[in-house]
This record gives sequence, C-alpha cells and structure tokens, in this order.
Amino acid sequence: MWWDRQYESFRAEIREFAESEIAPIADKMVGNSAFDKSLLPLLHKRGLLSMILPKKYGGVEWDTLQYAIAVEEVSRVCGSTGITLAACNSLGIYPLYAFGTEEQKEKYLRPVGERGALIAFGLTEPGAGSDAGGTKTTAVLKGDKWILNGSKCFITNPSIGDFVVATARTDNNGDSHDISSFIVEKSFPGFSVGKKENKLGLRGSDTAMLHFEDAEIPKENLLGEIGEGFKQFMMTLDGGRISIGAMGLGLGQGAFDICAEYADTHPVGGKPLAYSQSIAFKLADMALRLEAARHLVYTAAVLKDRNQPFGKQSAMAKLDASEVGRFCAHEAIGIMGFDAVDEDSKIARIWRDVKLCEIGEGTSEIQRLVISRTMAKERQKRRTAAGL
Ligand code: CAA
Repeated sequence: MWWDRQYESFRAEIREFAESEIAPIADKMVGNSAFDKSLLPLLHKRGLLSMILPKKYGGVEWDTLQYAIAVEEVSRVCGSTGITLAACNSLGIYPLYAFGTEEQKEKYLRPVGERGALIAFGLTEPGAGSDAGGTKTTAVLKGDKWILNGSKCFITNPSIGDFVVATARTDNNGDSHDISSFIVEKSFPGFSVGKKENKLGLRGSDTAMLHFEDAEIPKENLLGEIGEGFKQFMMTLDGGRISIGAMGLGLGQGAFDICAEYADTHPVGGKPLAYSQSIAFKLADMALRLEAARHLVYTAAVLKDRNQPFGKQSAMAKLDASEVGRFCAHEAIGIMGFDAVDEDSKIARIWRDVKLCEIGEGTSEIQRLVISRTMAKERQKRRTAAGL
C-alpha cells in the first residue's frame, strides 16, 4: 500500500468510533426516516463535522486522504451518516473557505468549528439537476438586499443545519456566467426549508427542498464575485466527488464484510460457503474491485492535497467506487440469498443506500462527461504545446 501506516491507525480509530457510536443507531435512523440530531454533538467532538476546516476556525484540519478514510469508515456502518458528513464538509465548508471573505469566514465557519454548525449546499432545482447551468432561481439587488425567488430540491442537511450556500441567477443572458452564490441564514425573511424528500436509500439523512419567496439576503452575503457561482460550485463538486467515492467504497466494504462473515460461518455440504468455488470467486472479485476503487479515491485525495489538478481523478473515483459499491451489495445478496432480502437487513439497507452514490453530486453519466471532456482538453493542450 502506498499510503502511510499512520493512515491505517487513523482508520482504526475512526472505525472504532463508527462501530461504537454510529452503528448502534443506524437502523433506527433509517426506520425513522430522519437523522438523529443527538448524534451531532458526538460527531462534532470527534472532529467529523469540521474535518476539512482549518484549525484557525476551530476545525480539525485533516488532509483529504484522512477525510476520505473517515467518510469511508463511517459509511461502512451507516451511509446516512456518511452523506451527512460528506455534505457538511465538502459542500458546506469548502465553498465558504475557498471563496468567502475573512468576515464571512469568521461569521459562518467559526460556528462550524466551535459548536458544530452545519452548512447545506443549494444547487439542484426541480428543472436543473444534471444541467446545473439551467438554474432558474433569481436574485435581484434592491437597495442593500438581494431578493431571491425560486426553489431547490434534494438538498442535504437543511433541516438539521444552520446555514445554506445557494446559487441564483443574477443576470439574464442565459448562460452559466449569470449564476452567483449567496450565504443564507435560515432566519432570513422569505426563506424556508420545505418538503422532506422521500428517498429510496440514505433514509436516515436529512434531505429537503428549499424555498425562496422574495427572500431577503443582505448584500454582503454574496459569496465571491457576481457571476462566479457556477464555477465555484463546479470546483466544490470536484472535491465533493472524492467523498462520494469514499462513501461508495465504505458501503461496498460494509457489504463485503457482512457477506464474507456469513460465508465463513454458514456451511454447505460440510464446509463453509466461503470454500465453495462459486462463492469464493465472488468474494475475490469484490475484494479486487474494492481495492482498485480505493486506489482511485485515495489518488484523487492526494492530488488535491498536493494542489495538482484532480477533477478527472475525482470523477473517476466517484464513478468507479459507487459502481463497485453497488456491485458488492448485489453480490452480497447473491451470497446470502433469503438471509439478505429482508427489507430491514443491513445488506438491503446498503443496497438501497449505495444506489444514491451513483446519483448525488453528479450521476455516473455526468462523471463520464467530466472525464471525457477533461481528457479532450488535455489532448488539445498537448497538441498546442507540440505546435500542431
Ligand atoms: N472547475 C472550474 N470551472 C469549471 C468547472 C470546474 N470543475 N467545470 C466547468 N467550469 C467552467 C468552465 O470552464 C466554463 O467556464 P468558461 O465559460 O468561462 O470557459 C463554465 O464553467 C461552463 O462550463 P461547461 O460549459 O462545461 O458547463 P456545462 O453547462 O456544459 O455543464 C456539467 C457542465 C459538467 C454538465 C455540470 O453542469 C455538472 O457538473 N452537472 C452536474 C451537477 C451535479 O453534480 N449536481 C449535483 C448536485 S449536489 C448534490 O447532489 C448534493 C447532495 O447533497 C447530495
């Protein structure tokens, strides 16, 4: 393994925390279709709500590889908690830290570090999912306030969270340069968190709509420059996709661990299932694909830490690890048969959860688009450099 031994002891610490504090309530959260807010102080204390936040603002400032390992380990026992952490770190903390002014960081990031406040990310709209540039929400400057109108859907953490960073169209030329982003406090007049989404999986995570009805956002809550919102959010998603890859990996590893234990302890014809060739080959394929996906996710994380381009690798990591997670959940059901198909079984939960990793933060098709476009640009750059 090319990653350092210190990361393996870090993994062991997070695994211990996840198994003792999160696993026991994972089924209950899914059964209640709601995130258990009593978990937040524990997550905050363990540093999991501020993994990528600099110490300067009270965060724990782990590197991206540690962040990926932590999301992987938490998702191994609970996908719903995995997405809660991935969203509040990559999608909440990152844009504010990368594009905010010092005043904005003091006002909105310090509460994250000091008391575990959560920031949600408002991009997707009923008519603008994969086509994020098709944002319809509008923002008009009136006096010292931006007036926002529109709705966002499938937003993670808005009910349990404190603030939202959301995009809106500040001009009407019709392209993505019209989109800007804003920091919204839940108490701002005209803003509300709407209907809870009734999801197939990750049912223990908080996902809801947002509504802006002549919502009044102070002028100084514009994030970065006017017209930069689309690029800011695309850059945010480049990083976020590493954590969704880590989730796919963790969910897949969870499925593997459960069905490998099952195969070791359930005999058929006098020997454990794990020694039957058809089952053993399934386990080998799962382990192989998990290990390969792990290398992709960790490579993207390390490139990000080294400030090297990583958008192609994070799209590859997310694409592959979420598909590998689905493969493992599918194969685990194949190995365990009727012992896995009960709706309340852990494997059934993983099977439902992992499908969402192929959708959230860009579908698998969007990842293929990002990868192929980046490669085309790289080839063009090489041709230009060669004077062709
Ligand atoms: N970094 C920096 N700039 C970028 C960029 C990136 N990664 N991607 C695009 N841009 C820039 C381009 O350079 C371009 O700039 P110029 O015009 O100045 O040259 C501009 O943005 C427009 O780019 P494109 O022409 O590539 O834009 P597009 O409209 O063709 O869309 C897309 C590109 C990749 C399809 C994009 O719309 C996309 O990623 N869609 C998927 C959205 C998504 O992932 N949504 C998930 C929502 S979050 C979520 O799921 C949250 C949750 O809580 C689970």
